Amino acid sequence: MAADRWSPESWRSRPIAQVPTYPEPAALAEVERQLAGFPPLVFAGEARKLKRALARVSAGEAFLLQGGDCAESFSEHSADNIRDFFRVFLQMAVVMTFAGSSPVVKVGRIAGQFAKPRSAPTEKQGDVELPSYRGDIVNDNAFTPEARTPDPRRQLEAYRQSAATLNLLRAFATGGYANLENAHRWMLGFVKDSPQSGRYQELADRITETLGFMRAIGLDPEQHQELRQTDIYTSHEALLLGYEQAMTRVDSTTGDYYDTSGHMIWIGDRTRQSDHGHVEFARGVKNPVGLKCGPSLKPDDLLRLVDILNPANEPGRLTLICRFGSDKIADHLPALVRSVEREGRNVVWSTDPMHGNTITAAGYKTRPFDRIMSEIRSFFAIHRAEGTYAGGVHLEMTGKNVTECTGGARAISETNLSESYDTSCDPRLNAEQSIEVAFLVAELLKEERQARGLPEVDAAE
Ligand code: PEP
Ligand code: CO
Repeated sequence: MAADRWSPESWRSRPIAQVPTYPEPAALAEVERQLAGFPPLVFAGEARKLKRALARVSAGEAFLLQGGDCAESFSEHSADNIRDFFRVFLQMAVVMTFAGSSPVVKVGRIAGQFAKPRSAPTEKQGDVELPSYRGDIVNDNAFTPEARTPDPRRQLEAYRQSAATLNLLRAFATGGYANLENAHRWMLGFVKDSPQSGRYQELADRITETLGFMRAIGLDPEQHQELRQTDIYTSHEALLLGYEQAMTRVDSTTGDYYDTSGHMIWIGDRTRQSDHGHVEFARGVKNPVGLKCGPSLKPDDLLRLVDILNPANEPGRLTLICRFGSDKIADHLPALVRSVEREGRNVVWSTDPMHGNTITAAGYKTRPFDRIMSEIRSFFAIHRAEGTYAGGVHLEMTGKNVTECTGGARAISETNLSESYDTSCDPRLNAEQSIEVAFLVAELLKEERQARGLPEVDAAE
């Protein structure tokens, strides 16, 4: 089946899960036609650059930090939110680079992360049953028939928001904000009095000292682009395939198809059936692709998917994002790692410690911080035991001071959840919890490098 001819619309003749029912097919077709004429959001050359960076991750030479909202929303779109996410993300990356001595590839769940898979097609409240909320690109979360009816025009709004977000991210990344000289200033006000801030300030002091040392010996940090600016890439789940197809274009320099809605796309745990539409779409675009691997994935199914998605065994093409749960990872991950290794397949192994650790407490969907930390630790330990490389972490996080996940240094309790629970889908790590995760990952990376007998690398890489 994988040998069938691929085209941007070949997914349409496959079975498919998680598709919204649009009441006006003609309006949907018109929106897709308009989108297909809009400028690309990202460029093929950028997606190739990310693929090369991920190839270094798959070779054990760098680490992937992927994170952002579970679902971006129209109502929370503001410059402040984007900036606060970006600065926390930069802090995390600098912690991992400096304390973990590893180059970090930064990929946001941002500028396109709108469509959500749901466990049921409808939601019932009392006697009323309505279509489930599927993300702002499809419908609105309010529990009314009008809000929940899928509206194709929302795709145009998602495109516009993605373009504006990406524009700001590009400015932050290259316009001076990301200069390492600013490492102190990335600290957010409310994090300043937190247990994590002392650790971070110390690290920022060391960076300042290092830059001072460079200057003292006659090296001008301003002359080094690596110190003045950074690369940040975008990613999202390629769930709403009509939108993804409309954004797919032929790259004029190579003749290959790229999905220009984001640098990297991934396939969700609920839509990774090897003969279905989502896998069919992803196999034909040349972007880096992620595959969510949950507890129901068997080693043989994984190998089939790896063959379909990366037939040329190209390093950096495929990232396996493992999301088992802290209590299940040890039962599932080793067999998957062994089968991929046995076949000599080049992949990036990344851990998503969020989606297998969701519980309900005090009426809220939440995730205990200890379980998140525990799944990350197990992920590194299993790779150490298997002789493979723990290459990345995939987080749902925000730069805001939310109370959505319990625990962390400030010990958010179940009774605190209602104080600032803003997510439009799954619970996210707040800024402080995110930085705490970064310090844990940095420690684990450092141990890993020591175990492999690797030298410390240039912190600025
Ligand atoms: C997600 O990443 O928000 C998600 C829905 O994940 P998964 O497909 O792993 O459940
Ligand atoms: Co989620």
